Amino acid sequence: MFTDTSTPATLVGGIIFALIVAQLIWKSFKPCPLNAIPSVGIPQHPFGFYFGAWDFIKNGRAITEEGYLKYPGKAFKVALANRWLVVVNGRTLIEDLRNASDDYVSLAEATNSLLHLKHTIGQEQYRDPYQIAVIRTPMTRNIAGCFSDMRSEVVAAFEDLVPAKTDEWISLPAMQTVLPIVSRVSNRVFIGLQCRDPDYIQITTQFAVEVAQDAAWFHITPTVLRPIAALLFGHLETSTRRAMKVVGPMLQHRIEMDDKYGADWPNGDRPNDLISWLLDEARGYPARRSVRTMTRTLLNVNFGAIHTTTQGFLHALYHIAEHGEYVESLRAEIEGVVKTEGWTKIAMGKMVKLDSFLKESSRFAPGGSVSMLRQTLQPFTFSDGTTIPTGTLVGVPILAAHHDDANYADADTFDGGRFARMREEGKEEGMGMGIRHGMVTPSLEFLTFGLGRHACPGRFFGVNEQKLMMAHLLVTYDLQLRDGVRPPDEWIAHMGAANSTAEVMFRRRG
Ligand SMILES: *[C@@H]1O[C@H](CO)[C@@H](O)[C@H](O)[C@H]1NC(C)=O
Ligand SMILES: *[C@@H]1O[C@H](CO)[C@@H](O)[C@H](O)[C@H]1NC(C)=O
Repeated sequence: MFTDTSTPATLVGGIIFALIVAQLIWKSFKPCPLNAIPSVGIPQHPFGFYFGAWDFIKNGRAITEEGYLKYPGKAFKVALANRWLVVVNGRTLIEDLRNASDDYVSLAEATNSLLHLKHTIGQEQYRDPYQIAVIRTPMTRNIAGCFSDMRSEVVAAFEDLVPAKTDEWISLPAMQTVLPIVSRVSNRVFIGLQCRDPDYIQITTQFAVEVAQDAAWFHITPTVLRPIAALLFGHLETSTRRAMKVVGPMLQHRIEMDDKYGADWPNGDRPNDLISWLLDEARGYPARRSVRTMTRTLLNVNFGAIHTTTQGFLHALYHIAEHGEYVESLRAEIEGVVKTEGWTKIAMGKMVKLDSFLKESSRFAPGGSVSMLRQTLQPFTFSDGTTIPTGTLVGVPILAAHHDDANYADADTFDGGRFARMREEGKEEGMGMGIRHGMVTPSLEFLTFGLGRHACPGRFFGVNEQKLMMAHLLVTYDLQLRDGVRPPDEWIAHMGAANSTAEVMFRRRG
């Protein structure tokens, strides 16, 4: 009976399966210290958690919304795959989370337990994510200096990927068009002209997908078997080797030049790019200065940069194609500003309507129903007395908060001029440039980039990149939705992505 099937693979599969079942049974009998927090979307029977977890995968958006409305100003919990996710509702609890010290609630540990960083992005990056400081400071400071490179890459990438003519419409798959453009524009600043290498584009755009896929497998693999699973089906090693083939010689050269000259190359011709900023940050840390570590760091920076920017831009692309009524006034603003400021970072700062439109798009579709995920390292007590034990995953209901009439007038209506008007009003009230309502400024009502110390350090770069791309697109092309309606987002559990298969039509402006 077992003769045909009892190969080693089946045996290993059987053992893994048995361990998974054992883990499930153990969990369903273990007393749960989170009992005091009401749960949402859980049927009332012994295996309710698992039914709820399955339901959350399909209806995470609606279940979060239900909790938001049912427990205003309180915490509730939902079943996320194999664990609880506590969602804290209301301004005070969200502020508590923002204010909490890293010793209590950790972003790194939440990311690690969701993405299994050791195996998906590597030990080096898991232990020493030094690129965060580089993104926060030198990269943000150098946006203006790198702007003409970004601009020329935007023009070249759109020429290659959106080759529309004046007299006819072409239809292009939006995601597959935007993703390589974002990869090229970002990597122009990261590594220079090698950003155009087709293999490199393929690797950088696929890497995030591989991380997510691998993480899903590690998730259902019992802890002890994960290193073996990483060897058997993980993508990290292959991606690292493929990326090293492209950027290895360049990195080797840059490390040697840095060893020899530091930041002062002869003739001052050291490239002003991410590699230089990483090397500056790596001075005195030999472990950071190897081709392999730097390749992994690059992959990880791409992981953080490309899909986030692509999602933001895709949502905005579908929104502008749906709301053609904004196109003329945005074009007028862009053309007017560029006439006096050229294609510069200063110009981006003056495009208040464009900023407002992109921010509204991201308010409307922030990429999920729960964000700012953290994991507790010690029991943590909120100011309303709610306590969550060590190891709890906790987050904020971003979508419901962004769509709450208490936070925004007519919150369920897309209003591209909303933040531009708020800025105007802010100016009148003497609030400076009304910068408070700009897209890069996080607030309790605008949580797309998180909040507080851990707000996305790449947001200044990403927002400038999105503005530059959208400004170029609007003055270069006419566009329309292929099917006349905005394509539906793709939801899995608490994550909502812009439609990945829909097409958008382009025609070059005459
Ligand atoms: C969080 O910190 C800010 C400023 O540090 C403070 O004004 C605010 O009251 C704090 N919020 C809570 C809920 O502790
Ligand atoms: C994405 O959009 C396409 C075209 O409008 C549609 O056929 C498809 O069902 C959408 N995907 C999802 C997951 O809704």
